[in-house]
Amino acid sequence: MSAKVVVVGSLNMDLVARAQRLPRAGETLAGDSFFTVPGGKGANQAVAVARLGASVAMVGNVGDDAYGEQLRQALEHEGIDCQAVGVCEGVSSGVALITVDAASQNAIVIIAGSNGRLAPESVQRFDALLQSAEVIICQLEVPMATVAWTLARGRELGKTVILNPAPATGPLPADWFAHIDYLTPNESEAQALTGLPVTDLDSARSAGERLLALGAGRVIVTLGAQGALFVTPAGSCHFPAPVVQPLDTTAAGDTFIGGFVAALVRGLEEGEAIAFGQRAAALSVTRAGAQPSIPYLAELVP
Ligand code: RIB
Repeated sequence: MSAKVVVVGSLNMDLVARAQRLPRAGETLAGDSFFTVPGGKGANQAVAVARLGASVAMVGNVGDDAYGEQLRQALEHEGIDCQAVGVCEGVSSGVALITVDAASQNAIVIIAGSNGRLAPESVQRFDALLQSAEVIICQLEVPMATVAWTLARGRELGKTVILNPAPATGPLPADWFAHIDYLTPNESEAQALTGLPVTDLDSARSAGERLLALGAGRVIVTLGAQGALFVTPAGSCHFPAPVVQPLDTTAAGDTFIGGFVAALVRGLEEGEAIAFGQRAAALSVTRAGAQPSIPYLAELVP
């Protein structure tokens, strides 16, 4: 059976330290606990799509190390099509060093490893996956040339194309916008993409409108506890976030995107899909770790 969703992106092993607070520059800080879990924005989004009710294929790379095998097995365990997950000889798998503080804030350093070797040709080889999908999702933890090729190919094939611009450090190439149906930045990414300060709903709306003017089809600015702002050419709509007690916000954005896409593929309207993604993300922040925190459909549909 062909997958309805294809994710082109990263797989990381997350090395997570919990501490009362994040360390300052030059400081050695005693932490409270340590764990290792599968993560990476691409893989997290694929897991979220799978757990929340849609078939999905992953296009990415792992290294030829123990982490690589564990990352692949984690996706296979979810029923994700991994035929396009390659192994890079002599290269380490992607790794994320994550510190989470008592207030559930995190700081993340990523080492791209094999994610940095995902060339456009690696996606081109699996064009049949793109052709048979309904939705294609990209992020920014693999080379820009690969993201650029995938977005353009998705548009050429008439697919629904989603870019989660994470992590964003500055504006996107101007020719990308016309290929994007849904652009999903958080506050800091919306700010990086537009150069506008984004702190509240009004400033998020301004940033979203700027991104529409650049050519994006629709923009969903995720604002953590302030919810999400859906900005379209017809106007904008605020979706308040469910109120929860957060434990760890890692992968909340990934869970939102996976839930949103799974709901779209299951036939829900855009607004319903956003609200569903928010409910999934809210549950994820009450749990520790990236992939272990992502809920299953049965937990959200009574
Ligand atoms: O979005 C969360 C993810 O960002 C983590 O799993 C980590 O791997 C980094 O890629």
